[in-house]
Amino acid sequence: ETIYLKDYTPFGWTVEEVHLTFALHPTKTRVKSRIRFVPNPDVPPQEFFLHGENLTLISAAIDGATIPPKITPKGLTADVPVGPFVWESEVEISPETNTALEGLYMSNGMYCTQCEAEGFRKITYYPDRPDVMSTFTVRVEGSEPVLLSNGNKGDAGTGFAEWHDPWPKPAYLFALVAGDLVNHPDNFKTQSGRDVELNIWVRKGDEDKCAFGMQALKASMTWDEEVYGREYDLDIFNIVAVDDFNMGAMENKGLNIFNSSCVLASPETSTDDNFERIEAIIAHEYFHNWTGNRITCRDWFQLCLKEGLTVYRDSQFTSDLRSAPVKRISDVIDLRGRQFREDGGPLAHPVRPESFVEINNFYTATVYEKGAEVIGMLKRLVGDEDYYKALDLYFTRHDGDAATIEDWLNVFEEVTGRNLKRFKRWYSSAGTPRLTVTDKFKDGRYTLTFKQETPPTPGQPQKKPRVIPIAVGLLGPNGDEVQPTTLLEMTKRQQSFSFEGLASKPVASILRDFSAPVVLEHERSNAERAFLLAHDTDPFNKWEAGQALRRASLIASVTTGAAPDTAFLDAVVRVARDDSLDPAFRALVLQPIGQDDLAATLHAQGHTPDPQAIYDASETMAQSLAQELADSLPRLYADTTVDGPFVPDATGAGKRALNGRILYMLTRMDGGAQARAQFKTADNMTLKLAALNALLGQDTGTDEAENFFQLWKGDRLVMDKWFAAQVALAKPEKAADVAEALTAHPLFTPKNPNRFRAVFGALTMNHAGFHHSSGRGYALLADWLIKLDALNPQTTARMCTAFQTFARYDDTRRSLAKAQLTRILSTNDLSRDTTEMVTRILEG
Ligand code: ARG
Ligand code: ZN
Repeated sequence: ETIYLKDYTPFGWTVEEVHLTFALHPTKTRVKSRIRFVPNPDVPPQEFFLHGENLTLISAAIDGATIPPKITPKGLTADVPVGPFVWESEVEISPETNTALEGLYMSNGMYCTQCEAEGFRKITYYPDRPDVMSTFTVRVEGSEPVLLSNGNKGDAGTGFAEWHDPWPKPAYLFALVAGDLVNHPDNFKTQSGRDVELNIWVRKGDEDKCAFGMQALKASMTWDEEVYGREYDLDIFNIVAVDDFNMGAMENKGLNIFNSSCVLASPETSTDDNFERIEAIIAHEYFHNWTGNRITCRDWFQLCLKEGLTVYRDSQFTSDLRSAPVKRISDVIDLRGRQFREDGGPLAHPVRPESFVEINNFYTATVYEKGAEVIGMLKRLVGDEDYYKALDLYFTRHDGDAATIEDWLNVFEEVTGRNLKRFKRWYSSAGTPRLTVTDKFKDGRYTLTFKQETPPTPGQPQKKPRVIPIAVGLLGPNGDEVQPTTLLEMTKRQQSFSFEGLASKPVASILRDFSAPVVLEHERSNAERAFLLAHDTDPFNKWEAGQALRRASLIASVTTGAAPDTAFLDAVVRVARDDSLDPAFRALVLQPIGQDDLAATLHAQGHTPDPQAIYDASETMAQSLAQELADSLPRLYADTTVDGPFVPDATGAGKRALNGRILYMLTRMDGGAQARAQFKTADNMTLKLAALNALLGQDTGTDEAENFFQLWKGDRLVMDKWFAAQVALAKPEKAADVAEALTAHPLFTPKNPNRFRAVFGALTMNHAGFHHSSGRGYALLADWLIKLDALNPQTTARMCTAFQTFARYDDTRRSLAKAQLTRILSTNDLSRDTTEMVTRILEG
């Protein structure tokens, strides 16, 4: 049941047009299809096969004559005419009992769909593959006041609505929504003068949480016109918020469907992080209209073609609207936390995988985030001008195509004349390269020597060298920049680069802006790191220097019991007090390094990480930092006050991010007085949650948590924060108990992925709690994954990734984790999704 990239064969027919009629009913929805198939002359004849799963076939006909197709577990086959023909079928499906949230399902009484990657086959019989593209005409019949599908509006009346999408699309972009919804309307005029109707559709009561999303949508439409010359192409663009959703959102043509947590926002209920994320996801789904919909993927191995590029585009958008350095630093924190972790363990796979069992298991940090990094490297290598030329060529040449990574790289080769054969290894080779650097200074010549090595990954024991763009700048002894940023292009396993005519040995700032997704190993003194933190002109490396100091100090504490390093404390205190620096940047310098990230570093250095020791060292460091800054904390705290009404922009968000850091430290020193006061007076969720977190972090705040609950128990999204905060901030020895107690709360349900993730995502991110030596964290998660798998395989499989690092730890933890993984695997009727994930984790 493994599917291989090398086995790709085109479908034997093209689909000229698709007509669908839905008669909606919670348990007996009828779906009629009429599809015109024309033999594909470029393909040798093949058996006619249509995908279909969990469908009850009512009737089937070819050219009007009823036929008896042969039904298989995965679809059906039939004898068909040699030439073109019309296929008709009627099936029955049950949206209400569809807890997998794939295909047509119900969420709080509304009908909605999720078809990517292979969900359309749960709606009707169809060649459910991205390289089969067609125009769709859809009639929706139901008593719901709002009936939506893709494309432009057609006829509508009482109990029905018709939709026509003139743009050929693969079935994974199909969508249907029906419910008692209200809209937040607006409109947009495109570059060329097309008037577009815009709507955000929500359940009654959520109308006041749409304005920000709408503003983000219009900003995205303008940005894509200005930066990429891409214009919207239908008369209407609809967004719908759905409470039960496996992922963040989905780019269905003209009808984007969103997890409500990724679109609904208000100052009272959403944090600055929520606002920024919502803005980015709205942009992401909108940008897919060109990178994903107009140009789609030939097969699911090419997923990064649309996802890597679209993530790259949404990160450009956020950088332009907010702060580019802050966005870059946040992205790298996320990349190290999720993608490096994946790349270094049993689930490592190339940006373009070569095989899979269940494609839903490959919507990963590697495909998305590393996929975006690869595009960033390409842009850096060819330069901005050629990048946009290549993109123009890509859009003109491949509009309407189901394309491949080869198509993508070809436009770059044509525009630049470069040979990208070697660069292409970033798509085919898994694992994070480790880049070591040494330097030498002699007679005014400064030489940097780099070595690259990628550790083996499952199925790839040997690694070839990659093309690594290394952005470098040099600083003189007074902190002045003697060599502005220049790009070194490393192509070999070992390579040296020299700079001439220098008066004295410079301090090198290497991998500026994190110019490649690699682990840089650079042995240097704390004095040099502190010098870079003070003087580097590159904001990323300025921050990175602080990280390097902090990391070195923490590693020393864990391995030798050393006290926090004074060079680090002094340097960070200086940054914290420096009012000339952006508050958002100061907040990032004050942010602790993730304990899982530290475990990875220790493991890479040959130690067996002890989660409790990592936790203790992190606590000691936080306490020392708070003491070191104690005198300044009240002054710094007062400076984070933002006057006037809440605006979720970068300036206000930066100050509030710093507020959160300072308050956390202050709470260690003042017993929580300031945090309690802030909790009471805060008029926005960012400040309120920061206060609650600060208190919970010191194992206090029970009253505030109860108060928060009473205030917000009627708001699902805020309740998710309440569930998550208690688990995330619980002491290691209590985390599993807190999580378990919350699963007995009347508002807990495994059927809602957001709620399940609030509790269990928080547990797995509580590093010392989840990996507690009692094994309670492992056992509790396994219990619930087994329960959830019967309902929702996709979310279960995704949560299994919590176990992917188990082999790093000591024998006791390893065998405890292994026992739970084995127990999951032995469950009767375990889904294909979860079986694949657990098997890979165990075999890695
Ligand atoms: N294409 C969507 C996005 O990135 C993600 C949908 C993934 N869905 C899934 N079931 N794997 O915007
Ligand atoms: Zn996407």
